[in-house]
Amino acid sequence: MRFLLFCLLNATLLCAKSTFITQMEYASSLYKNPRGIGCQKCHGEVGEGRVVARYVHKKEQKVFEGPKINEIGYEKFYATLNKRNKGMPRYYLTDREIKALYFYLQEKKIEENSHAKPKS
Ligand code: HEC
Repeated sequence: MRFLLFCLLNATLLCAKSTFITQMEYASSLYKNPRGIGCQKCHGEVGEGRVVARYVHKKEQKVFEGPKINEIGYEKFYATLNKRNKGMPRYYLTDREIKALYFYLQEKKIEENSHAKPKS
């Protein structure tokens, strides 16, 4: 069943390619403004993780951060977006939206890696 769903979603995303915005444009806008609060605010532009705030609580220095999310597997990504997470808004995204977000992060990672300067 899950495999079938995966194929179906792939097929929809492939079709989306031929519409007036590309799959990547769609995924990018979704990542940056899903339900009004962008993922990048807490997880960074490409899901690399980000410190959101530093504060002092009971005289202790604390850090609120969004973890790195561009290196986790799809199963975990999907599961996280379908449950409550401490410090993260609940989005109620559709399966297609979750798939698009995951696709976006993977594409960005490939892009970043191909721009990386070769080590000398
Ligand atoms: C207000 C900040 C905030 C926003 C906005 C936010 N997150 Fe998160 N996210 C968090 C925090 C904090 C955690 C860690 C939760 C925990 O430890 O239980 C987290 C955890 C996750 C994880 C699990 C990471 C792991 O390794 O377990 C995923 C995946 C994730 N977020 C995806 C997203 C996506 C996709 C969006 C946009 C639709 C988003 N988040 C928006 C704060 C945020």
